[in-house]
Amino acid sequence: MPDTDVLFRVKRYRPGSDSRPRYQEYRIPYRNDMVVLDGLNYIKDHVDPTLAFRWSCRMGICGSCGADVNGHPKLTCGTYVREFRRGVVTVDPLANFPIIKDLVVDIDDFLNKLASVTPYIVRKDEGDLKQEYIQYPEDVEAYRQQSLCINCMLCYAACPVFAASPGFVGPAASALALRYIRDTRDEGADERLARLNTKSGVWECTFVGECSVACPKGVDPAAAIQTLKFLATTRHMRRLLMPKSVSR
Ligand code: FES
Repeated sequence: MPDTDVLFRVKRYRPGSDSRPRYQEYRIPYRNDMVVLDGLNYIKDHVDPTLAFRWSCRMGICGSCGADVNGHPKLTCGTYVREFRRGVVTVDPLANFPIIKDLVVDIDDFLNKLASVTPYIVRKDEGDLKQEYIQYPEDVEAYRQQSLCINCMLCYAACPVFAASPGFVGPAASALALRYIRDTRDEGADERLARLNTKSGVWECTFVGECSVACPKGVDPAAAIQTLKFLATTRHMRRLLMPKSVSR
């Protein structure tokens, strides 16, 4: 292969018309500054318009472009092709999710899990929302790391527990639950911890830590889940000893 080219090997699959997934190879022009998403867009624009994949922002913000690149969950907009310059760039849909078409996976299950931890500020009295709640820098610092999550789901693709047990609420939803529990404006911690203090909640996590390795934004979901285990246990003990102090 000339130095001016790079070989992409992309998983193709249309459930309903294809009997099984297969790889398709594309030899495309190489640029030193190209990211994997650039390669996919070159294929779509110049070689094969039928290739399906998601993307939007091209700057690591929207979280929509995740795929497995040479076996590792990555944002395709943030992964340089030069990392794999001496070999083939193999692109698969994110592991552990059903495939809708080619690299596009079904995210409904993740969205349901996210909704189950109420990923927004909860106030017991909705009238409270009309008033101002000042946040000091130290208040924001308490949840800043978890708030960086962009819902890209790379952590679910990396998680062996989610692979073996799809009911597991999983890393990103747990990290975002902690983000709101730590927010001084929020009053929904009891309900979130009741949801997470279950086998399919935080207790399924065996602290492998691959989720934190895969996160492109520096969130540490594995640590967040261990913190939630502590908070859920504390809540459970309070519920036993001081039942009126805990809702539900
Ligand atoms: S395209 Fe938005 S994060 Fe990659």
